Amino acid sequence: MKTLKKVAALLAAVVMSSALFTGCAKQKASGTIVFGTNAEFPPFEFVSSKGIIDQYDGIDIAVAKQIGDDNNMEVKIENMEFDSLLIALKNGQIDAVIAGMTATDERRESVDFSTTYYVAKQVMIVKEGSDIKKATDMADKKIVVIQGYTGETCVKEMGYKYEAFKKGTEAIMELVNGKCDVVVIDSATAQKYIGDNKGLVIVEDDTAFESEEYAVAVAKGNTEMLNKVNATIEKMLKDGTINELSAKYAESDDAE
Ligand code: ARG
Repeated sequence: MKTLKKVAALLAAVVMSSALFTGCAKQKASGTIVFGTNAEFPPFEFVSSKGIIDQYDGIDIAVAKQIGDDNNMEVKIENMEFDSLLIALKNGQIDAVIAGMTATDERRESVDFSTTYYVAKQVMIVKEGSDIKKATDMADKKIVVIQGYTGETCVKEMGYKYEAFKKGTEAIMELVNGKCDVVVIDSATAQKYIGDNKGLVIVEDDTAFESEEYAVAVAKGNTEMLNKVNATIEKMLKDGTINELSAKYAESDDAE
């Protein structure tokens, strides 16, 4: 009888402590990580009624969620203009930027970047039948880019005139409506846009556009956050989760 009681007491203790444990996990006792993004960049981040963190979904949001889970921390997404992200990071308004952001040398001067989790490149989106076959064909064309994206830097460095829009969808509308000839933007996002808009095609030019490495940005010297981010990203690269997410969100993104 005594042993039975002991066993029962032990069982009760185990049940209680595991209940406590789940309680803890739910409350995310170790704090919150605030990620800044610009949810205008499918398949990496977009607004959706099926969002996995609030109304946000995409490859980056899934990675952010995993970073939180791995550290028993809550994750908050701050959606802002792409141009404001690095400023918000420097101001301490956000802990990290996860936004399909290319780790460029210029940006490296002001922030630290994680391990690369995705490799992309700039491509040109044109209307079917366009005579733009390579980057230099854009010389006398109406070019549209997205403000602050690496695509803008590329076109600027080529010395071509262009117009910059705040959102990829606005740029695509210009093209669809015949108000411009070409939109320069990152490859995976371009794929989403041509899937959503009939009559648009992608033109690549590997001699003109170098590959770009996407990474998470943290404030310079914030090794604590950088280590957390890197641990999760490296795990997700190794076990194939990043590949799975890329394939899943390339298929369908439920963007609205
Ligand atoms: N890769 C490009 C860059 O770093 C575009 C990123 C746009 N990301 C976004 N979430 N809007 O400039």
